[in-house]
Amino acid sequence: MAEWKKIGALENFKDDSKWEVIINKRRIALFLYKKKYYAIKNSCLHQGYPLTEGSCSDNMIECPLHGWVYDFTTGKCLSLNNRSTATFKVRVKNNNLEIKI
Ligand code: FES
Repeated sequence: MAEWKKIGALENFKDDSKWEVIINKRRIALFLYKKKYYAIKNSCLHQGYPLTEGSCSDNMIECPLHGWVYDFTTGKCLSLNNRSTATFKVRVKNNNLEIKI
């Protein structure tokens, strides 16, 4: 059953636009875009490369290995028809960031 997991103080997630967080040994890619947080599985659908090592453009992240592009606000892989990666809900509670996993 999914539950909210605290990942750290909100102030630690302000000075960049993407981070990798690990919860229960699962690698999560966390993004800050237009003052909202988004989380997806940090593993490319192609060969599993960590997406947080790619570069962002607006709400898109490009895998640096072969260039597959994802919309991190929805998890949709724009390089494949009808394929999406896992997404996770993110919330702010008591000045901490939490991810539901
Ligand atoms: S591993 Fe990401 S595009 Fe190949």
